[in-house]
Amino acid sequence: MAYKALYRTYRPKTFLEVAGQKHIVRTIENALANNKIAHAYLFSGPRGTGKTSMAKLFAKALNCEEGFGQQCNQCGNCLSVNDGSHPDVIEIDAASNNGVDEVRDLIEKVKYLPIKGKYKVYIIDEVHMMTSGAFNALLKTLEEPPAHVVFILATTEPHKVLPTIVSRCQRYDFTKVEDDAIREKMVEILDLEKITYDIPAINAIIELADGGVRDALSILEHVLAYAGNSIKEKDVFDLFGLASNKEKLDLISSIAKGDVKDVLKRMESFIASGIDIKRLTSNLLDVLKDALIYSRTEEHILLSVITEKDALSLKELIDIDRLNEMIEILLKAQNDFKVVSNIRSLFELVLLRLATSSKKATIPSEDNQTPEMRKAEPQQIIKPTEKKEEVLKKAEVIAPQTVIPEREINAQQPTPIEAAPLIETNGSTVPSWLLEDEMAIDEKNRPAEEVKTKGKDSPGQCTIDLAGDKNALDDETMIKIMVLGDKEERQNISKKWDDFIGLVAHPRYGLVASLLKDGRPYIVAKDVLVLEYDFDCLAERINIVTNQSSIGELMKNIVGRDVFVYAIVRSEALRLQKSYFNLRQLNRLPKAKDIQLNLKGATI
Ligand SMILES: Nc1ncnc2c1ncn2[C@@H]1O[C@H](COP(=O)(O)OP(=O)(O)O)[C@@H](O)[C@H]1O
Ligand SMILES: [Mg+2]
Ligand SMILES: [Zn+2]
Repeated sequence: MAYKALYRTYRPKTFLEVAGQKHIVRTIENALANNKIAHAYLFSGPRGTGKTSMAKLFAKALNCEEGFGQQCNQCGNCLSVNDGSHPDVIEIDAASNNGVDEVRDLIEKVKYLPIKGKYKVYIIDEVHMMTSGAFNALLKTLEEPPAHVVFILATTEPHKVLPTIVSRCQRYDFTKVEDDAIREKMVEILDLEKITYDIPAINAIIELADGGVRDALSILEHVLAYAGNSIKEKDVFDLFGLASNKEKLDLISSIAKGDVKDVLKRMESFIASGIDIKRLTSNLLDVLKDALIYSRTEEHILLSVITEKDALSLKELIDIDRLNEMIEILLKAQNDFKVVSNIRSLFELVLLRLATSSKKATIPSEDNQTPEMRKAEPQQIIKPTEKKEEVLKKAEVIAPQTVIPEREINAQQPTPIEAAPLIETNGSTVPSWLLEDEMAIDEKNRPAEEVKTKGKDSPGQCTIDLAGDKNALDDETMIKIMVLGDKEERQNISKKWDDFIGLVAHPRYGLVASLLKDGRPYIVAKDVLVLEYDFDCLAERINIVTNQSSIGELMKNIVGRDVFVYAIVRSEALRLQKSYFNLRQLNRLPKAKDIQLNLKGATI
């Protein structure tokens, strides 16, 4: 027997077999019972929720030889509707090339009586795709259809159907099918197919299907092809790159404990297993949302994705402020994912930020802000004399204020932070000076082809590669750079570091800004900037040769000149500092005036 996809095999054959859509089934059954048949119906709703199936059921009910409104699935009419061969039940796909011709053809033939049944049923799928010519021709027929004709128009985009057509139809809005109804349908099919399963596997499939029965059955079929005749949750996770609840909880608890090593390890293994990062982020948010609700209410019935036991241990581990902070960071990441080209790299940074931040809600309320603070230009709230960490922390807290474009500052009173939206829209988080003059990107200094692809009309994105040749400076060169280092310039650049916070949501610079922001300026010599990082994986990204142009472009905008950016980790910085002082004591440091730097030579 030829292979038939599950979702084709299990098209509902009676109204009773339809999952969900109960309001529609009931109305149609009533209409049939009372013999009140309209001449045109419009079925709208998401794909795979039963529109075509319902249209066919309706066609059977109109023509079943067992009686009006029946679907015996035994008589000639029912059987031929089921196998698609009924001469009076005509399916037209308006999305296909010949849709228009078919509509013209049907209009020609609409006047002829049905051949086999009582009614001719025209099912026009994706009706919004019809050309206006075909629409108009159809409209005339819809105005005065012969008594033996029923039109069923189906669409996923009802707003694109001419209002004059819609107004001539009885409209039924199909909805996404509830999880319970999909579960019931899947279990019924699995039992018929003699497949064993565990319920968590079914639940994982349902989550992926997002209310679509056809999608649920297609996913199920994929899993069966992968796992054979017995399916487990792990099969679904493996196949679709999902993390289990336990993995999510373990990750959250490592984050909460600030166990950076473990977070990095888990991240590596997620990535190695091809996890879907966007979905993981949204799943982590679901878990944190449950944790937050439980911390506040202790009501286990309000939990939707975790058990009460898990909720309790999260409550003990993470206080409400921290939960809110984690949620805020992840929500922002979800938004940033839309504008970066390398989601994975951004996700790594987000996890590190989650694990290393421990900001408490030290937000100044309107009441305890000084009048100066209320009036001040936002950037000025940060005093340059403060320690770097404090500045960064404070800048993060006031970030939503610092990003109001200059022209709006006068018109807008600073608002207390609680009132600021959690998610910043793109662009609005960019410092105004950078928006001026179309970001002042120096087109002349860019290689020709880059200008072509990243020109002003299509701003493109500064991408970050994860692997490739890395710049590697030897100790001798590093010592030379240290000799050339300029303390004042380092302070200047450090102050500008806060600007990256605003740039993180920028479509062009998001990822690069995020990466740079995590470093600290360690040495600034004329055209070299050495950054210090806490984590090797971040320093490495900076040093990848192919990332230099993106980093260079952003640095040029921030500091106003070309700089070569090189990154080291803290341990390396300490080691270099030691040798620098040793050499100085021995009076063996090179003289600044003799130093020639060749930075781009060595790679590994
Ligand atoms: N509400 C539903 N109840 C049962 N099965 C459904 C339902 N919706 C979709 N299906 C399954 O998906 C397949 C395709 O559904 P279909 O009716 O063509 O969806 P639509 O026309 O809305 O895109 C059906 O054959 C059936 O297996
Ligand atoms: Mg359909
Ligand atoms: Zn029948």
